[in-house]
Amino acid sequence: MKDSSKVNSNNKEKYAPNNRTIRLDEKEKIKYLKNIVNINGQNNGSIDNLINKIICGDTFEILPYLKKETFDLIIIDPPYNLSKTFNSSSFKKTNDIEYENWLEKWMKPVQQILKNNGSLYICCDWQSSPMIYNIGKKYFIPQNRITWEREKGRGSKTNWKNSLEDIYFFTKTNDYKFYVDKVKIKKKVLAPYVDEKGKPKDWQKTEEGSYRLTHPSNFWGDITIPFWSMPENTDHPTQKSEKLIAKLILASSDENDFILDPFGGAGTTAVTAKKLNRRFISIEKDELYCCLTQKRLEMAEKDKTIQGYKDNFFWERNSLYK
Ligand SMILES: C[S@@+](CC[C@H](N)C(=O)[O-])C[C@H]1O[C@@H](n2cnc3c(N)ncnc32)[C@H](O)[C@@H]1O
Repeated sequence: MKDSSKVNSNNKEKYAPNNRTIRLDEKEKIKYLKNIVNINGQNNGSIDNLINKIICGDTFEILPYLKKETFDLIIIDPPYNLSKTFNSSSFKKTNDIEYENWLEKWMKPVQQILKNNGSLYICCDWQSSPMIYNIGKKYFIPQNRITWEREKGRGSKTNWKNSLEDIYFFTKTNDYKFYVDKVKIKKKVLAPYVDEKGKPKDWQKTEEGSYRLTHPSNFWGDITIPFWSMPENTDHPTQKSEKLIAKLILASSDENDFILDPFGGAGTTAVTAKKLNRRFISIEKDELYCCLTQKRLEMAEKDKTIQGYKDNFFWERNSLYK
């Protein structure tokens, strides 16, 4: 569950003044619904009219209608194998075999629509991680597993606090894009080592302090889960941060490349793709989340800021507020 700054008073919900959660009123819902595509499995294979669109519908019906070898990058943040409510629908925890069958149902069509030099990232938690690997390796080449720290989350009295998640990096062939220079991390230098001539070794002095640019590893400790005072936050229960998605997009695609998110949620992939000048399609079955995505896309017209990413570098957690 994400944090909330709700204050209940006289049965009316009030929010703290600095609560920036993106919400919709009735008028906005009507307005944004008009922009959403409803193809209900009825698409003649033409992708042209779906570019930069939010498709409202069941991904299992829509994926088979998308043309083969279309996408440069596919980012998948599926329901994990946990009982969870996503506004109008719920995902029910099941046994490992059933969950693997469910994974296989979308993994096959995803393999067909990914370009031969394309990349696929799949998010998961510690329990679904081995299943994603097992099914994923049947269709793709596993290149890596990123583990990232969720910073927030409730502690447990009877277990270790659950604060890590995984993202598998798969490709279709060994000919794929990877731009490490686009995803470097700017870290504060704690021990500013200088050589015998007094020159900084691998770091730079700036007006804001001393920094080192480092190559990203497959452990990410700089991600913050969106919460109520962040401008990207919505009420979606499992929203990913734009910073996390930006790393995947910048490492594995070029400008104007085509990105798919088949479990779009509140639209983080679509919004981040737009901010980074990529084309996208997002599929989500809940109308409210589709409308929230539309609102975020409209906001991205005016503000392309990605929190934690500035001057082409990713900054350590909480070292940049804008
Ligand atoms: C883990 S959330 C994705 C969150 C998203 N990454 C974000 O940052 O907002 C998974 C989403 O998949 C949607 N979903 C589940 N089953 C679906 C299906 N069969 N077709 C389309 N969307 C589905 C849920 O409604 C939920 O919003």
